[in-house]
Amino acid sequence: MSTAPLPTHLGDALRQVMRGVAATVTLVTTEQDGVWYGMTATSFTSLSLDPPSVLVAVNRDASLHDPLLRRGAFAINVLREGAAEAAMSRLFGNRAVSTEERFRHGRWRCHPSGLPILEDAQAWLICRLLERLEVGTHTLVVGRVEDVSPLAAGVAPLVYVDGTYRRLAG
Ligand SMILES: Cc1cc2nc3c(=O)[nH]c(=O)nc-3n(C[C@H](O)[C@H](O)[C@H](O)COP(=O)(O)O)c2cc1C
Repeated sequence: MSTAPLPTHLGDALRQVMRGVAATVTLVTTEQDGVWYGMTATSFTSLSLDPPSVLVAVNRDASLHDPLLRRGAFAINVLREGAAEAAMSRLFGNRAVSTEERFRHGRWRCHPSGLPILEDAQAWLICRLLERLEVGTHTLVVGRVEDVSPLAAGVAPLVYVDGTYRRLAG
């Protein structure tokens, strides 16, 4: 893999293109030695139904990175649209906010696996670490899905695009 520095114009252009790619906002969470960790992630995507698997890219600098790999398990909490959820996304995506403070917002509970799940999420998934791949600043984390939340009525995810939080029209 090339480690050559990215030309400025390409970096700027890529950033601009990615601003226009709408993404559902999730909170990735894990637990290690009784401590909860969590961060905002829009890189979450489904991977396969066989095995049931999902993918998320986690910055190696993120406080959740090492605990997630050591624990070998994580949860994905898909946020609903709403002002409280947008505020949570900002908190869980802000390096200046402590892990403890992040979990003071929203109704969190402990799943039988020990992982933190958000009661009011549109959906949550419990995943066991299946594969990992280091790419530049990030680790691609592949999780095997071991449990999913009960089906919620309607679909109204929190969407992040062009640097702002939106709701799906319609
Ligand atoms: C909308 C949004 C989406 C984000 N998506 C990702 C992501 O997919 N992967 C990632 O590593 N960081 C992502 N981040 C950045 C992390 O949430 C942020 O750097 C977080 O503060 C890192 O955790 P730490 O402060 O606990 O170290 C995103 C932030 C925001 C606001």
